[in-house]
Amino acid sequence: MQDTERRLAKKLFIKTYGCQMNAYDTDRMADVLAPLGYETVPEPDGADMVILNTCHIREKAAEKVFSDLGRIRQLKDAKAADGENMIVAVAGCVAQAEGKEILHRAPTVDMVFGPQSYHRLPDMLDRLAKGAKNILDTDFPVEDKFDALPKLPRKSSPTAFLTVQEGCDKFCTFCVVPYTRGAEYSRGPESILAEAQKLVAEGTREITLLGQNVNAFHGSDESGIAWNLARLIRTLDGIEGLDRIRYVTSHPRDVDDDLIAAHRSAKKLMPYLHLPVQSGSDRVLKAMNRQHTGEDYRKLVARFRKARPDIALSSDFIVGFPGESDQDFEDTMDLIRDVTYAQAYSFKYSPRPGTPGADMKDQVPEPIKSARLTQLQALINEQAAHFHGSMVGQEMDILFEKSGRNEGQLVGRSPYLQPVFVDAPAELVGQMGRVLINETSTNSLGGKLLNVAGVL
Ligand code: SAH
Ligand code: SF4
Ligand code: F3S
Repeated sequence: MQDTERRLAKKLFIKTYGCQMNAYDTDRMADVLAPLGYETVPEPDGADMVILNTCHIREKAAEKVFSDLGRIRQLKDAKAADGENMIVAVAGCVAQAEGKEILHRAPTVDMVFGPQSYHRLPDMLDRLAKGAKNILDTDFPVEDKFDALPKLPRKSSPTAFLTVQEGCDKFCTFCVVPYTRGAEYSRGPESILAEAQKLVAEGTREITLLGQNVNAFHGSDESGIAWNLARLIRTLDGIEGLDRIRYVTSHPRDVDDDLIAAHRSAKKLMPYLHLPVQSGSDRVLKAMNRQHTGEDYRKLVARFRKARPDIALSSDFIVGFPGESDQDFEDTMDLIRDVTYAQAYSFKYSPRPGTPGADMKDQVPEPIKSARLTQLQALINEQAAHFHGSMVGQEMDILFEKSGRNEGQLVGRSPYLQPVFVDAPAELVGQMGRVLINETSTNSLGGKLLNVAGVL
């Protein structure tokens, strides 16, 4: 880059909180702002624009935004002392849920916009330049955000996320997502496949299809025919140069026979499934409005395992949902013992304003939630350690992503998303290698390179 261009480039810092959908949106915001001369930088100090891409799922996540805004205010003041401006924006799910309140509580903030509005960022910046203040854009627009986004080349990466579906109509009684992301919406298959082809042409070998409820995907093609997730996966399976397909997050209620069959037939679909159950108690599941029982879930897992015997599972759990008794909690522990997980995320129930759970009687006291969480995590850790240990002695394909901790070492991912450290030459980044696993530690594996796509 020429020196003059570098001086003209504006610095953009985006902080991402929450889920992978937000991570995907952060990259798209950078895409939208690039034609306006914004380049992303790793630190907020001295930035011309700071965007906090926020998460509202639990109280802690939402409060973090306000403490971060305190720090951003100091940076903005420091810039103002030099006669320069820093634009501060709050995006994402807290913006959607608490738009007006943010502008009230944090006058540092110049603009607030929700997850469905960021393709209108150039217009918002224009209004700001013309003197508008406190811009708030939290509408759910009728136009297709994805079609309005620029189709820029991305920085090539061996792995990439691809949003295929957004929003949720399930209304689990603990969850803010249906309010922050709106009604379920699926993209058209043609635009998804074009994005996938482009990623693969740029060097991506693994694509993770994203959606709040990804297996509710029902995008209609140009002839008006609705595709399900299995059809999308089967089609991606045929893309030359693509090696791995994943999808996240699924709801047990939206699993169809075709999706289970795809785990048998689609060769590139990884044998790893994140299928949140939240609780093992039918009483609690009912109060959560999950629309399935513990038994339904167990049967579903058995069907996935029949289709793909080497499949490993992960889940999300909430402990201390209102009314959860010791017995309900024991039912959850029993389900974990029955299913056995490779990994899981677990949370203490956090009452979220505006959701039915927040107004339910019998909120569980904090110390009980903490004790249950500790107990549940101990069981999950035990299962995860066992799963990790069972990898030793196995040969598997590893997709190398970047250099490892030591010189001459690369780190890649196993089919089960475990980081694997291997001595291998740097030019193998972005390629698949056959590796013999010979070591495990708490969060990663170690292995020996056997060959690279039949070359060595
Ligand atoms: N769409 C996904 C998950 C979305 S949120 C699904 O249906 O499974 C990710 C996880 O956060 C949830 O699975 C749940 O375990 C947790 N979560 C959501 N709301 C929560 C709350 N109010 N308190 C604690 N955990 C919560
Ligand atoms: Fe939230 Fe339930 Fe929808 Fe998942 S399915 S996003 S937990 S409402
Ligand atoms: Fe959080 Fe919104 Fe994702 S609330 S988990 S960032 S959908």
